[in-house]
Amino acid sequence: MTNELPVLGVGATFPVFNYQKYLRFLSSLEENIDVVELIISPFLEEEMKKAVQDIQVPIIAHCTWLSLGTDTLPNREIVKKISDQIDYISPVWWGDHICFNGVPEVSSGTLLPPILTKSSLDAFVRNTNSIKKEINSPLFLENVPFLFNPLGEIDPFDFLKTLIKRTDSGLILGIENIVESYNYYPIDYQHFLNSINPDHVVEIHCPVVKDEIKQNEYNKILEYAAKIGIKPKAFLWQLKENGDGFPEEAIFNERVQWARKTFFSEVLA
Ligand SMILES: [Fe+2]
Repeated sequence: MTNELPVLGVGATFPVFNYQKYLRFLSSLEENIDVVELIISPFLEEEMKKAVQDIQVPIIAHCTWLSLGTDTLPNREIVKKISDQIDYISPVWWGDHICFNGVPEVSSGTLLPPILTKSSLDAFVRNTNSIKKEINSPLFLENVPFLFNPLGEIDPFDFLKTLIKRTDSGLILGIENIVESYNYYPIDYQHFLNSINPDHVVEIHCPVVKDEIKQNEYNKILEYAAKIGIKPKAFLWQLKENGDGFPEEAIFNERVQWARKTFFSEVLA
């Protein structure tokens, strides 16, 4: 599945909400980006349509709404809203998380980690495959914080490997989520990255932040991923709105160049 995908290059992730200001920032930069990852919401359909018209590069869609680990039938209303938007965007691919965030009537308000049991794995496989059948664009799965947990009988690495295999999917490597995971359960990032088949990594996304200590932590993981031969089809710098404002232009330009050179020098001219 992942071999047939185009190489998209380096871009930025941002939400549909207030998308104009992200596009303004990106268009003011010296470095052009190759791809956008748009974070969609079932409740922002009109804004999504405007964003799609204004974005001039290939689009990947990203969301947090499917609750793939919920052991009941999915919330049909939400799945329908999301699938209509994916049809409209027709993204190169789209992604959601290896988590559950409630039952159809009650939302947890957060991305809860998988329980590493056989029945939980079966629920993930069943829900992922049923959504993949309904929607044309390829769906890939992102690691979440607390992915490596001691809840259940399956080793976290086996859980991930089996899930990807049984859903014929690929991995979106969320660097921030690797760092956050360590706060809950101490799995070394090198150990985790070594456990992944590099061919399964379709995409990497990573925040670009002003906090130098945090950024260095992220960069260290990225450098290791490159060193062991992980070559994503797209690399996205996540632009976050946390009251901190956008990164300095020169820093963002440099980060785009770095990702291009590190992950795509053999494939992009
Ligand atoms: Fe994500």
